[in-house]
Amino acid sequence: MAKITNDIINEIRSKTDIVDVVSKYVNLVKKGKNYFGICPFHDDNHPSMSVSYEKQIYTCFSCGATGNVFTFVSEYEHISFIEAVILLGEKLGYNFDNGVRKVETNQEEYKIYELALKYYQNNLHSSLGKNAIKYLEDRKIDRKTIKKFGIGLSLSKSGLSQVLISKKVKLEKLIDLGLSNSLGNDLFLNRIMFPLFDLSGRVVAFSGRIYNIKDSSKYINTKETDIFKKGNMLYNYHNAHEHLKKNDYVLVMEGFMDVIRADTIGITNCVATMGTAFTKQQAMIIKKMTNNVILCFDGDKAGEEATISAIDMLEKINVIPKIIRLEDNMDPDDYIIKKGKDAFLNKINKAISVVDFKMQLLKREKNLTDTKELASYIDETIKELIKIEDDILIELTLKKLASEYNIEYDTLKNKYNTYKTNKVSYQDKVIEIKNNKNNVYEKAERSLIFYMLKSSDVIDEVEHKVTYFPSANIRNLSNEIICFYHKYGVLELADFITYLSDKTELIKVLYEIINMNLMEEYSKQEIEDYIMVIKNYAKNVKIKHLEEELRKEVEPLKQADILKEILSIRGVR
Ligand code: GTP
Ligand code: MN
Repeated sequence: MAKITNDIINEIRSKTDIVDVVSKYVNLVKKGKNYFGICPFHDDNHPSMSVSYEKQIYTCFSCGATGNVFTFVSEYEHISFIEAVILLGEKLGYNFDNGVRKVETNQEEYKIYELALKYYQNNLHSSLGKNAIKYLEDRKIDRKTIKKFGIGLSLSKSGLSQVLISKKVKLEKLIDLGLSNSLGNDLFLNRIMFPLFDLSGRVVAFSGRIYNIKDSSKYINTKETDIFKKGNMLYNYHNAHEHLKKNDYVLVMEGFMDVIRADTIGITNCVATMGTAFTKQQAMIIKKMTNNVILCFDGDKAGEEATISAIDMLEKINVIPKIIRLEDNMDPDDYIIKKGKDAFLNKINKAISVVDFKMQLLKREKNLTDTKELASYIDETIKELIKIEDDILIELTLKKLASEYNIEYDTLKNKYNTYKTNKVSYQDKVIEIKNNKNNVYEKAERSLIFYMLKSSDVIDEVEHKVTYFPSANIRNLSNEIICFYHKYGVLELADFITYLSDKTELIKVLYEIINMNLMEEYSKQEIEDYIMVIKNYAKNVKIKHLEEELRKEVEPLKQADILKEILSIRGVR
């Protein structure tokens, strides 16, 4: 089977005009060299998105969305990158029947799930569905919501398997898809069926809830299949994603019943992790939606633990969420039913910071009338503070601690500073130096990348003369440019974006660099100067790091070694 290679992707890209494609979705007006329109990826009335015919890329100056024609279509249509390639390729007359077309290869699976969905939905509305409807009505889930979330009903017979087999679906397929057992009986019996959708909104699994029988498990989920990977999905992503344009935050909940309940009161930007441990992939999907995340897990102990681990997971990818905690062990569903919409909206408005959440936890665990425990409470709170970047929040918290426990503010600030300095590592040092005003180094590294994108001579220079960019993103970007150049012999920006398509962090940096206000022309001397700046900078970082080590080292022999290394880097022997 032929694969859709990068060459084919680039060919389709070169035959497609981004201005043509984007203008089918967005009204574009030409101003100077570029076209401008309202960015569809964030809520805006101003034309902050520009589309370049020359570079065949788009960039939004407001939300930072950027990419080539494929990323545009994939983001807009909520389809994968490769699906966007296929969509645009087919318009040019390409035929992918023999290609590895993900949609195509799983077409049958998706069809089967659509049939299953219809079957379960029909059951619910048949005379056999009376009790289930009553159960849903008792839970205040109305017809509109039943329809919106595709809720259905499985029965006691092996109905679904029979229906599907009569439509020529093979039993093995049904077993593979987690719908039937090897005897040809349905796996879901007598349960209210909640379809689970993938990120593009296709039904790929079910969760069935008991409603009239006693059973050890409240919910049964479809097993993992080719089209259903639990850790890769978020319940209601496809709906919530749409609503982010209006309200740029997402509420993350545990159960899909919570999401459904929130939807009934008009809060549509919610997703659910579905009771699994919050995965890295889920965190990444959320980060792609927005950086404004509110965790609203169940009010019980398990929900508290889930909150703590979700915070850890999100902080690793630089998303600092806000937290809602619900009292009396309630989950969001219970809370909304009991206290109503306004009370829940109030909870959202009053979502607390991670530091406040952690302080509450610490406070609860410790007896603060005991001096020793109080000291340890303050100590741990300060350790939480060094993780965050928000200076105002840090200062406010330290002041609050000072006045609450009658401690000098300076004492707390000193302690904070000590921890902060100890935490500074090699990488942080790079950032620290980088944050200095008028940073020559940052300008040099970014300018070099800027000109690498324009000229293969600069790529050669960097490849041979710059051994190391201390900033990780720039280093990676430079390596990617060099690899791409070796592979294709030329560097077309729009194709390079294809090449980077799953490296969102790098695309973001690339976008910043493309939009720097630099002269199109450069001199050889300029490039050499930039390279020199970077070499010196890398040296200085290394020396600073060694000096730090030297300060901490107590053994004279090791001290001598470090000193020797410092001198050799300085070029003194
Ligand atoms: P209701 O009891 O219907 O209100 O559901 P809930 O949202 O309160 O469920 P709960 O908080 O108990 O669980 C959260 C999520 O975990 C659910 O949405 C399910 O996806 C999952 N879950 C809960 N119980 C089970 C179970 O017994 N088996 C499986 N596989 N998943 C479960
Ligand atoms: Mn519940």
